[in-house]
Amino acid sequence: MKVAIIGTGYVGLTTGVCLADIGHEVFCVDNNPQKLEILKEGRSPIFEPGMEELLKKNTQNGRLSFSSEIASAAKEADVIFICVNTPTKENGMAELKFVEKVAKEIALAVGADYKVIVDKSTVPVKTAEKVKDTIHRYGNASTHCDVVSNPEFLKEGTAIFDTMEPDRIVIGSDSEKATNIMVELYKPIIEKTGAPVRVVSVRSAELIKHGANTFLSIKISYANLISQAFEEAHELGMFTVLWCYLRNDAFKKNGVDYHASADLTGQANHLGVTIEADIIKQKLPTNNGGFVAIDFGKTSPLVYKRLTTDHPIDLARYQVANCYMGRIGLINSGGASGENDLAQAVRTAVINKRAGGTGLISGRKAFQKPMKDGIELLNAIQDVYLDKGISIA
Ligand SMILES: NC(=O)c1ccc[n+]([C@@H]2O[C@H](COP(=O)([O-])OP(=O)(O)OC[C@H]3O[C@@H](n4cnc5c(N)ncnc54)[C@H](O)[C@@H]3O)[C@@H](O)[C@H]2O)c1
Repeated sequence: MKVAIIGTGYVGLTTGVCLADIGHEVFCVDNNPQKLEILKEGRSPIFEPGMEELLKKNTQNGRLSFSSEIASAAKEADVIFICVNTPTKENGMAELKFVEKVAKEIALAVGADYKVIVDKSTVPVKTAEKVKDTIHRYGNASTHCDVVSNPEFLKEGTAIFDTMEPDRIVIGSDSEKATNIMVELYKPIIEKTGAPVRVVSVRSAELIKHGANTFLSIKISYANLISQAFEEAHELGMFTVLWCYLRNDAFKKNGVDYHASADLTGQANHLGVTIEADIIKQKLPTNNGGFVAIDFGKTSPLVYKRLTTDHPIDLARYQVANCYMGRIGLINSGGASGENDLAQAVRTAVINKRAGGTGLISGRKAFQKPMKDGIELLNAIQDVYLDKGISIA
């Protein structure tokens, strides 16, 4: 397929390079002459792992080219991506004049040919409708393009990976013809990764992008709020304990529950200590390899080969290492009450202590039984920590 990318910034360049790499012929357009000069030399104006290799490879094989001419690229392409910047105006609204300007130039160029015009820039809901109006206003009577919304979710620094291995592809389209073309465009990525394709209305796709951005900013704000609360607690002379559990069904894969996996809980611990928890409470690891199994985030195989083994003490030690190498305390949790509570509590305490942990909290195991048995269990845990013979492994 032939693709025009208008605006080769972070989003446009990444999209263009990746679409060329999966076999499309891509014409990238930008109105910044310095940027074009750099790109034509096969260099990347942005730092992005893998970008320069893909740039060089696809420029050399003739699938990727750069110019300042919207008209010729738009005329040639089947699909035209609008990837220009949409900065925030002083009043907080998105500046859409660059999108509008590009839409007008596309309209003047395309004539009677059918094109799919794709809004990839982050825009307010109903912008695609405005783009369509602009196309009709400036195009001629026979102009019949579809405008779809295909929001971008890449993260700067992992942009190529995020595009080649997306969590999801959102296509906002009110036209079956345009939808089919978009699915065809992404087919190699969809087939290779099995990424879910969400076909929704144009307005929904525009809204989904804002939903995703809002969710991310809420998570950051929430972590910041906790961190501020912890800071205040420290000023008042208090110490802070954070339960860093991973409670989510998404951590289950093929019948295995990775919510207590050493790698995933280790990362949770690291986040906890970074927002100034003085003690982390975490479940004792029951397995490892959660990142790989649920295909979440990124990790290195060396984590599993060199940093830990499958021994329970090593797995717990990995959690300790993620608490600033044990400078922040790790207490493991006793877990639910069941069979062999006393033996299990002692085992958890021994593993925690030998891994360099700080202690064990046992609520349900201790309190959901007669007072005498509960006291015996708590004393047994205490004995482990008092016993000098049980030392770091
Ligand atoms: N950067 C990100 O991480 C990211 C992620 C998701 C979505 N987005 C959204 O994608 C859009 C683009 O973001 P970006 O970070 O790539 O922006 P950017 O500023 O890096 O790139 C925009 C490019 O468009 C070019 N441009 C502007 N007007 C033009 C015109 N008339 N003709 C040709 N080229 C023109 C600029 O020269 C620039 O190179 C924005 O709406 C942004 O909010 C960005």
